[in-house]
Amino acid sequence: MGEVTSPLPTQNSCKIGVVSPTATVRTAVIPAAGLGTRFLPLTKAIPKELVPVVDRPAIHYVVQEALAAGIEHVVIVTSAGKGALEEYFTPSPQVEEMLRRRGNSAVADELRQFAERLTFSYPIQAEQRGLGHAVLCARDAVGRQPFAVILPDDLLVDEQPVLAQMVQAWSKRHGNYLAVEEVPADRISAYGVVDLATEGHLDGRTYRVKGLVEKPSAEVAPSNLGIVGRYILMPEVFDALARTRPGAIGEIQLTDGIALSMEHQPTYAYRFSGARYDCGTPLGLLHASLHMALGRADTAAQVRQWLKDL
Ligand code: G1P
Repeated sequence: MGEVTSPLPTQNSCKIGVVSPTATVRTAVIPAAGLGTRFLPLTKAIPKELVPVVDRPAIHYVVQEALAAGIEHVVIVTSAGKGALEEYFTPSPQVEEMLRRRGNSAVADELRQFAERLTFSYPIQAEQRGLGHAVLCARDAVGRQPFAVILPDDLLVDEQPVLAQMVQAWSKRHGNYLAVEEVPADRISAYGVVDLATEGHLDGRTYRVKGLVEKPSAEVAPSNLGIVGRYILMPEVFDALARTRPGAIGEIQLTDGIALSMEHQPTYAYRFSGARYDCGTPLGLLHASLHMALGRADTAAQVRQWLKDL
């Protein structure tokens, strides 16, 4: 797949109504090109997204979430030196066989499903120019259709996987959807923050958005609702991203691209149901591992006992 360094807007920038009412969300973009500096020295040799949460790499869980939402094509935006990501998702009948022989059919079945139901693409982000730029690197692989974006640092856990919740809401009312949750004031400056429209509550968990700000200070944040790493975006966002200039922390921000596309696309905040674990730091990853291990029949009793004994 090609690199994107200086993208140009296409002729039909921001046309309205290109998505038919019966369209579905078939493609998910997973930005995974980052250097993982918070996980050094480990990330000298291993992509951060392959660090395990209990016994599966963090990215395995988000690909499962994509599958549960009906996604068929996973676009992993990667960078030089992260070939192990592609290796992980390359089907291996031998590994599946070995897992089955060792009594681990659950993982073997998951890998089989990935192989049978998903196709993968791996566009390269040659320079680290920000999340918006990473998503733009997926443009050719996605094509002109609505798509999901999943940030693999955010592990979201609920009986109904969060992306599936959002696809359901999206199928009733098309537009850009951003998962949001309440964030304490002292952490809001790490997030993209939504400005809800007056009387913006539409139904269920969906709210109409009138503005977006990336990483505002607590004083100027338009609300306490921060964006978490699940989006459903209309293809016009690519055109907007191609016009987006560097913003917060000098990077091309996805939030700014979505804000630009709002001229032509309705945009909604979706207050998802579920718990969120931030796997973007070693401590957050430990928290996620503990939660997952405590939620599993094969590990819960042992881990609970260890915690008691501490
Ligand atoms: C990114 C997004 C931000 C969002 C956050 C969620 O920020 O730019 O809008 O709130 O993910 O995790 P980052 O964490 O990459 O700085």
